[in-house]
Amino acid sequence: MPVTTEDDVQILFCKWEEVSLRALLNRGARVHLVLDAFDLDHARPDPELLGKMAAVWRVSHDDSIDELSAVAADLLVSGVHIDRIASFTEFSQFGAGLLAELLGLDDTSPRLALNARDKRMMKIKAKAAGWRHARFIDVSRHDQRPDPATLAETVGFPMVAKPVNGMGSLSTTLVRDAGRLEALLKQPSFAPELHSHQLVLEEHISGSEYHVDAVWRRGKPWQLHISRYLRPRIEAVDPGHDNGSLIVPRDDDPELYAYVEERHVALNAELGFDTGVTHLELFRTGAGEIYFSEIATRLAGANVPEAIGAYCGVNLREAWVHELCGGSPESLEYTDPPFRYVGWINLAPACDGVISDMPSKEDLAADPNILEWTFLHKVGDRVELAHPSVWCLLLVIGADTIEDFHAAVARIEREHPLSVAGIDTNGGS
Ligand SMILES: Nc1ncnc2c1ncn2[C@@H]1O[C@H](COP(=O)(O)OP(=O)(O)OP(=O)(O)O)[C@@H](O)[C@H]1O
Ligand SMILES: [Mg+2]
Repeated sequence: MPVTTEDDVQILFCKWEEVSLRALLNRGARVHLVLDAFDLDHARPDPELLGKMAAVWRVSHDDSIDELSAVAADLLVSGVHIDRIASFTEFSQFGAGLLAELLGLDDTSPRLALNARDKRMMKIKAKAAGWRHARFIDVSRHDQRPDPATLAETVGFPMVAKPVNGMGSLSTTLVRDAGRLEALLKQPSFAPELHSHQLVLEEHISGSEYHVDAVWRRGKPWQLHISRYLRPRIEAVDPGHDNGSLIVPRDDDPELYAYVEERHVALNAELGFDTGVTHLELFRTGAGEIYFSEIATRLAGANVPEAIGAYCGVNLREAWVHELCGGSPESLEYTDPPFRYVGWINLAPACDGVISDMPSKEDLAADPNILEWTFLHKVGDRVELAHPSVWCLLLVIGADTIEDFHAAVARIEREHPLSVAGIDTNGGS
């Protein structure tokens, strides 16, 4: 792919993400990297790659105002002019907003981070942009004892309880009745990754769940794809079964694309966002009503960028990096899809344990529906299937019809199992 880059663009990158970092360096960017303790202690960054960075900082976590302010001061004192900030994960959105403010950049801001991270703020902004959203009420103040009856009356059962600054569906639960609501209010539990301990309770919207992924420059989308999750994320209890999504071809549902694009542009304006990458989620009910669910100003996770790349020839991550480096949209080379329906799935063992067997690259390459694979684990790794986003072996798959796509998912899950020691995933043990 021909690449247009500004010479020596200086990027401040928050969190470790090897593929994007390599892509930025390959385009000649100078990368200043902020890593948190988790990155350094668990992700074990490649020292050779770290050596190619213009600078590397370690902060204890990405919400630490004093540590990030010291990073900003380092840059300001040394006279380095940062052109762009790239924040890869939810963890670093508030921190990136602070850094942008201190460095005088407009990629993001503390206000954008608030609007795109807080589940209440994003709904208020979505409503102003013409979207429908679930009824909600929060349980957030230390000095207030919420009345379960009022909460139930406002939202109704079943309801979804989730952290106001949630991510990765952590600590997100379906509350079916008054007994469970009382128990939740008495003892709410929050995953250690979540710093603010405030909850929002939402009307449960049933139907299909979609995600929308786009790269923008100055308010215009370079590429925008709508994908349907194979099942709503909250129902994906088994990380290795029907855990993925399928890109909706634009000409299958032009009305959906038109509806979403118009409101996405309006929502960006309400949020204070105009350049970068977004991941928006929505529901469509059986009656065809569309509800905004949430938005994030970050790259989609799992194999979404790869599925989009296989579908249109330009990986979402590549488009994001290209935009960050000052490339032009015309220099991205799009291609026709290899199959009408392209999506991704996760393969995982049936239960926790040490992986004893998994498909080989040769097995995967020989499968007529498998287009790409990403191994997140290898034989000998211990996996704990604590939540649906435990990625083990991510695949991009394709098929000519929706029915064939779903049949391929079922067949691939059956024919390419991952086993854990002592357990045969085909049913025996
Ligand atoms: N109001 C709702 N009605 C129905 N399902 C919901 C609702 N809110 C959340 N969910 C389900 O819970 C999942 C997680 O909620 P949400 O997307 O708001 O949180 P998150 O932790 O930020 O997500 P992500 O995993 O995308 O980072 C959603 O993908 C959806 O399946
Ligand atoms: Mg979500």
